[in-house]
Amino acid sequence: MGDEWGPFIPLTVGNGVTFDFANVPPGIPGGIQPQHYALLVSEEEFDSAFALITARELTFWADPRMAHEGEINHNDGGRGIYFLDPAGHYMELITVPYGGWPER
Ligand SMILES: [Fe+2]
Repeated sequence: MGDEWGPFIPLTVGNGVTFDFANVPPGIPGGIQPQHYALLVSEEEFDSAFALITARELTFWADPRMAHEGEINHNDGGRGIYFLDPAGHYMELITVPYGGWPER
């Protein structure tokens, strides 16, 4: 996490991207529209995130249709899960890119 800036709490991820989180003021027309974010993480980062998810008893799924609750997928030989952030955005953590690592 970086320094707070105005209403934002920045969360910097490994590839130079920063998510700026803020509480949503009331009265936004249409409210928050849920979006989907997939984050490619290392095996160690996955372990750390998964430990937090389970410690906080967040519901997680192996699939985007939420059919396989409490399971981890092994798509493309990695590990992957889906869970909801506090605003209802659909977060995905994967340890291998879709389709596998590119050939060198
Ligand atoms: Fe996805």
